[in-house]
Amino acid sequence: MTSMHPIEKKILLVLKEGETIAPDEIASASGLDLSSVMRGLDWLSAKGLVSISESVEEYISLGAEGVEYVESGLPERRVAELLKTSDYSTNELREKMAPALVGIAIGWLRKKEMADFKDGKLRLTEKGSQPTPDEELLIILKKGTVKRSEIDPVFQEWIKPLASRKNVIKVEEKISREIRLTEKGAGLLTNGITESDEIGQLTSEMLKNGDWAGRSFRRYDVESSVAAQLSAKSHPMTRMIEEIADIFVSMGFEEISGPIVESNFWNFDALFVPQDHPAREMQDTFYLEKPGKAELPSSKIVDSVSSVHGDGGETGSSGWGYKWDPHPASKTLLRTHTTSTTIRRLAEGRKPPIKVYSIGRVFRNERISYKHLPEFHQIEGIVAGDVSFKNLLAILKEFYGRMGFDKIRFRPAYFPYTEPSLEVEVYFEQKKSWIELGGAGIFRPEVTEPLGITYPVLAWGLGLERLAMLRLDLTDIRALYRSDIDWLRSLPL
Ligand code: PHE
Repeated sequence: MTSMHPIEKKILLVLKEGETIAPDEIASASGLDLSSVMRGLDWLSAKGLVSISESVEEYISLGAEGVEYVESGLPERRVAELLKTSDYSTNELREKMAPALVGIAIGWLRKKEMADFKDGKLRLTEKGSQPTPDEELLIILKKGTVKRSEIDPVFQEWIKPLASRKNVIKVEEKISREIRLTEKGAGLLTNGITESDEIGQLTSEMLKNGDWAGRSFRRYDVESSVAAQLSAKSHPMTRMIEEIADIFVSMGFEEISGPIVESNFWNFDALFVPQDHPAREMQDTFYLEKPGKAELPSSKIVDSVSSVHGDGGETGSSGWGYKWDPHPASKTLLRTHTTSTTIRRLAEGRKPPIKVYSIGRVFRNERISYKHLPEFHQIEGIVAGDVSFKNLLAILKEFYGRMGFDKIRFRPAYFPYTEPSLEVEVYFEQKKSWIELGGAGIFRPEVTEPLGITYPVLAWGLGLERLAMLRLDLTDIRALYRSDIDWLRSLPL
């Protein structure tokens, strides 16, 4: 008794031995609201004081289309009416009625054996001129919602076919509950329950005036179920972006940002991507009609990029060996990677050391699938100054470690703008496999030299959505942006 909650006591006091009662009746008899009643019943049944029997009942009502069909007749009835005067081919019917309706009608006319085809024409059968049970059922439903169990057996088998038609009828399940005192509960009632003077909450008042002394306290039941508390929270992607930003900031990085509508020049040319590179094709990159043209940077940079593409310029490289064309360079596109933002920053000519990161949206002309989105995020960054390849590996390892991924590995890779280049892979326990999460490397002299940079620049561009999938245990990348409310609620704060 000491651990009984006032709600439980109030419920017990309205129960009578040998009688059943529904939760809403308990609510009105006890003055409790329904959700308190449900909670209290949960606790009481866990203690074996009440038993709850649940039954599911289906309720059938007309859907929007059903309401219309009751007025104007099912499509097959409308065609049957026409067939009373003459046989018609499908094409002839399409001229007399909306073609979409004819399609539906013919299917059902044949299923319900209301008509058959003879010499390419639809002919009414004897059955076809009588009302069918589903039509009668619709008329019954016109009066309002009916319990499935109360529908005449003749009509029972017609519920399913009607439910298979879109919006014709609605079948809704409702759970009804009957509450009964158990023997134990009844025994407790006979012994008498009083609304006790137990203390449920200790106040500073009681402490001051000493009221608590000699009183009994209600015990906490930490295992009892309570109503879910749904509080507002940020979207998991927002939270992950904030978490990543925190990691880089705590590692001494500064955040940078750049335009999403970018020029070919900063997205590709400045990164030593040759002008005929397949990634630049329309099927990989979204080019824009508006704005039609982007401004190019100073001619010093442009000329230098041009000569690096041509013969390697001052870098000692032999370049790509073609004549670089300035016209396509000013075309606009949706940036395909955030490396464009990085390279813009480098072009500002600041002094090393430089440690910057950005987290931003990028776009690729990809077909949407469980692992591809045309729009996603990259986690990009550079460290420039007195640094080496080893530092690059350490930074990546540190970042993923702080994100909770300890097992990572590096594989040699290729990007036109870095040398050496690598890909980062993270081990995913659940799948027992390695997953590729991004690329990194040291910018080539062909990238840094036109910007007047003479020190090493470590760079990386990592996928955010893939990381989120691993974190949130998703197998379909689209789930991240579907904003399924149940899923969002199920995520911890
Ligand atoms: N930009 C590359 C990508 O989108 C990643 C990368 C960034 C690679 C920086 C090397 C250096 O895949």
